[in-house]
Amino acid sequence: MLKGKKILLGITGSIAAYKSAVLVRLLVKAGAEVKVVMTAAAANFVGPLTLSTLSKNQVLTELSQNDSWANHVMLGRWADIMLIAPLSCNTLSKMAAGACDNLLMAVYLSATCPVVAAPAMDEDMWKHPATKLNIEKIISFGNKVIPVGNGELASGLSGDGRMAEPEEIVKWLNDFFFQVNDLKGKKVLVTAGPTYESIDPVRFIGNHSSGKMGIAIAEECVKRGAEVTLVTGPVSQPISNNFKTIRVRSAAEMYDACLDIFPGVDIAVMSAAVADYTVAAPAAEKIKKNSDSLTLELTKTRDILKALGERKKATQLLAGFALETNNEKENALKKLHTKNADMIVLNSLNDAGAGFGHNSNKITIFDKAGNEYRFDTKSKTAVATDIVNTILKISHE
Ligand code: CTP
Repeated sequence: MLKGKKILLGITGSIAAYKSAVLVRLLVKAGAEVKVVMTAAAANFVGPLTLSTLSKNQVLTELSQNDSWANHVMLGRWADIMLIAPLSCNTLSKMAAGACDNLLMAVYLSATCPVVAAPAMDEDMWKHPATKLNIEKIISFGNKVIPVGNGELASGLSGDGRMAEPEEIVKWLNDFFFQVNDLKGKKVLVTAGPTYESIDPVRFIGNHSSGKMGIAIAEECVKRGAEVTLVTGPVSQPISNNFKTIRVRSAAEMYDACLDIFPGVDIAVMSAAVADYTVAAPAAEKIKKNSDSLTLELTKTRDILKALGERKKATQLLAGFALETNNEKENALKKLHTKNADMIVLNSLNDAGAGFGHNSNKITIFDKAGNEYRFDTKSKTAVATDIVNTILKISHE
């Protein structure tokens, strides 16, 4: 899959460096030729011997190693891409400033090949304004950044800042080398996440949607050349700045945003888990527990997918989702027809590894022409690729 590609892997001092061994193994297995440059701090987390054995090449760490001047210039010229993974906060700041105090930085500064980095750091460091600025700076220099993940961190806390998994990094590289810009010139609207319906100023009705699926679809569309707008409900997932994001809270806000954007797009993918009911009369003040029971009156929200289906032009493609627990196919087909969508992505809560919060998903897609496309359980990024491939297949028919 990466046969013949020359990858220069820069490893910096972050606990995620322990994953570099797996990353090198996967890259070599995919057919790539790998050379490793690491900082002294990285060598505290993963042994150069492990990496030289796996990459079948000498690992370079020191600027003052024999023949170092020739090394750093030639390495950057040898590579088809320089991948810095993990990218620590410290090396990020050096990249932004153009500092050159080790071999890795010398190679980076002299590299003529494209450079991509997979940052890894604790959430508070990741969210620091200086880090944000540094990321923006290195992107403005033409570098690419693989989005961070959300989950357990070395500090014991949980949040944004995890390095993308080695499998995702390999997929990113594969897309980078081989993906055609088959969505170039297309405008895409994607919805993601849950909606929150207020009960009073401190409480709401929501659901467990993490937004991961919609964010992965937005990333995939951008990677394939589309101009994307993501409308998302409240999510804690990191969202990259590769596309425009509109954050909303309630189903009504999501409805307004989508109806506003839809006339100008070619494709709309509605993956948000929109509340079906909202509180009829949210209390202006916090509700006190003065009585033994509390009854809330709920009213139906407007169906965004259906509203877009009613307004859809022949040139537009509309994709909806269906999350079902029973009579999956029948329910999905009903949604496809009643909402006038062009395709429905079904995920069943009965499938292991599928649905809310998981990093993986198992989908079946039904289209208007009566076709049924089944897919295995895959990571949400790989599922996003399947969804976009199917959208393109349907729109070409
Ligand atoms: N949807 C929407 N607006 C709503 C409710 C749902 O746009 N108010 C969209 C979702 O984004 C999804 C599709 O409709 O693409 C199906 O959502 P789902 O919750 O599975 O179905 P519902 O139509 O709400 O039907 P039910 O809850 O009865 O299964």
